[in-house]
Amino acid sequence: MKQNEAPLAGLPRRAGQGSGIARILDDLGPFRRRAALTMSTVSLTLRIWRQAGPSASGGFETHALEAVPTDLSLLEALDLLNERLIAAGERPVGFEHDCREGICGSCGFLVNGQAQGPQRATSVCQLYLRQFRDGDVLTLEPFRARAFTVLEDLAVDRAALDRIIAAGGYCSVNTGSAPEANALLIGRDQAARAFDAATCIGCGACVASCRNASASLFVAAKLAHLGQLPQGQPERRQRARAMQAQMRAEGFGSCSSNLECEAVCPKQISADWISWMHRESWRPV
Ligand code: SF4
Ligand code: FES
Repeated sequence: MKQNEAPLAGLPRRAGQGSGIARILDDLGPFRRRAALTMSTVSLTLRIWRQAGPSASGGFETHALEAVPTDLSLLEALDLLNERLIAAGERPVGFEHDCREGICGSCGFLVNGQAQGPQRATSVCQLYLRQFRDGDVLTLEPFRARAFTVLEDLAVDRAALDRIIAAGGYCSVNTGSAPEANALLIGRDQAARAFDAATCIGCGACVASCRNASASLFVAAKLAHLGQLPQGQPERRQRARAMQAQMRAEGFGSCSSNLECEAVCPKQISADWISWMHRESWRPV
């Protein structure tokens, strides 16, 4: 290895077929492999909450990642660590993910106490190691809220958010078959406002960052999404009341306007929707 080439420490050495990322690097061909091997790197210490199951006791475990490429996302760094743990016969770190593109809401944990990490408007799957400095210590913890049970390590059960959606139910008014969508004209501003609310990905970061563990921003976004469109008008007030009642039943707290939810939301949902939601409950039917 030449002097300016950073070693990919943390990658397991190839043995036989090799594993994961080492194999991918081999498949890149000589030019792109060389670029990958000379990219800038960072060494980090990860303090990770380890908890084998919902009723197990948990604690922090420390792992060093040395000279890992800064073009890796934090989740890819955890993949690397997991490859290493699996090779050593240890339990890999549990965390949730799906799209890894910031659109599904599956991922999410605390990075140094901040839900979804330090970069604004970013889900943790889109958080790259170039955001961190060499030698940084990152403390990774699951979202903490009474309504979110820790399933394993960094993964929590967010089914309570699904039950809030289910409480909103469906429109029970029989309107016949669905009309042609383009036959219903919707103004541009109205559509844009509804779309802003509809971008909520249900990640739960707003809950985890709120000192009351309130799900108000999530519920407001869901109500505002359909509540502003013609299709959402029937039974609009009942839906608002039912979803807020379910939020309380699930153990989420009340909003006390500290606005941390808005600050951490990866989709920058505005807290103005919370005021809108409260007005919804009392609007005439
Ligand atoms: S409002 Fe934002 S933080 Fe809360 S669930 Fe939706 S996307 Fe996540
Ligand atoms: S994995 Fe889909 S938003 Fe992060």
